[in-house]
Amino acid sequence: MPSTPRESIHGQWSSRLAFVLAATGAAVGLGNIWKFPYIMGQNGGGAFVLVYLACILLVATPILITEIMLGRRARRSPVHGMQALAREEGAPAAWSLLGWMGVIAGFLILSYYSVIMGWAIAYVERALAGSFTGLEGPAIKAMFQSFTANPLELLFWHTIAMLFTMLVVVRGVRAGLEAFTTLLMPLLFIILLILVGYGLSTGHFAEALAFMFTPNFSKLSASAVVVAMGHAFFTLSIGMGTIMAYGSYMPERTSIARTALIIVAADTLVALLAGMAIYPIVFANGLEPSAGPGLVFQTLPIAFGQMSFGVVFGALFFVALVLAAWTSSISMIEPAVAYLVESRGWSRARAGTLLGFAAWALGILTVLSFNHWAEVRLFGKNFFELLDFLTSNIMLPLGGLLLAVFATWVMRRASSFEELGLPAAAYVLWRVLTRYVAPLGILVVLLHGLGLLG
Ligand code: PHE
Repeated sequence: MPSTPRESIHGQWSSRLAFVLAATGAAVGLGNIWKFPYIMGQNGGGAFVLVYLACILLVATPILITEIMLGRRARRSPVHGMQALAREEGAPAAWSLLGWMGVIAGFLILSYYSVIMGWAIAYVERALAGSFTGLEGPAIKAMFQSFTANPLELLFWHTIAMLFTMLVVVRGVRAGLEAFTTLLMPLLFIILLILVGYGLSTGHFAEALAFMFTPNFSKLSASAVVVAMGHAFFTLSIGMGTIMAYGSYMPERTSIARTALIIVAADTLVALLAGMAIYPIVFANGLEPSAGPGLVFQTLPIAFGQMSFGVVFGALFFVALVLAAWTSSISMIEPAVAYLVESRGWSRARAGTLLGFAAWALGILTVLSFNHWAEVRLFGKNFFELLDFLTSNIMLPLGGLLLAVFATWVMRRASSFEELGLPAAAYVLWRVLTRYVAPLGILVVLLHGLGLLG
């Protein structure tokens, strides 16, 4: 029997379903609807999607299972959790550094995520005001450009987004996080289906499918592979402790692997649907797939401006996008909040407020990356791009690599076997993927992509 407590001091999800919803809520967010479509476009489509799907299946899914498992076994925030697990397995306490890296990554991600969530909130207002009605592609694009050119407006919406986030973080696990997620997932899903339906009516649906699913490996660069793998971690919220923290609130007798597969399926489905909603509009309007972070804001409003009931659907879509972003943003500082509550005895309110404020302040640099500082570059990237690259493409995969190594090279086999409760064959599959395939895959991609292997 493990020496760690069997229930977290922060409370527990009321049921398996509650955990699935919360973890899916953390997974499905701007990553699926805002980021996946535009990085797919920047990296040439088809081959990128295939590599991304391979990373999800072979690397990210086993690590998702691993991270839930470690969290549930530790029953503590990632920093203390890794400490406790290392002690239990007779390994060096330095493993808690892994928890620290996650705390920092989550904080950095939140700082820019909140800015983009702010864009989505601003677009709810525009949709409700009927601002898209009758506009063509160029006008929609100009609207986005004049919006992001104005730092004070971005700062205003970033502030609102961070306040939203802090509000829920402060209210705590069950009351704050659970209640929200239940309603919004189905809503988001239905609106995406409607938008895919609109895509069908543009006459460019086949072209979009060909772009997304015909792999052309000559277009695939080493850095595209790094981005695809980084995104597999980002989109599932793994490699930084969020899922570990959520796993620590998970009831004891639930199947970790089955739960993980549901999360992966939902997350992947939403990302692919988002692509199928956006790309027909891109091609129908002669837009550039490589438009970058503005892609979703420069495409879907065209559809809302033309379809019947576009005002209603537009508003509902951006509301659902905000909610999806919200259930993700609250998860990002959960590792840090839980740490401060455990080690300093702080209230959630105090921890959440302080962290939220700090992330808000850092977010100002991202706000400026879209206007005044757009051309202030390091390694060819502005501040926002640098932050995104550092977290998604380096910190999360590195965190995932270390989690996989800990769970399969350091932790006794009996411990993981007991905690996962899998049938023997499934256990072996998980173990082979987590012990060899995932770590090697991550190492090769990172070293090669960062130019260290020539
Ligand atoms: N998975 C979230 C998304 O796709 C982002 C996220 C990353 C959330 C890391 C938590 C931790 O939008």
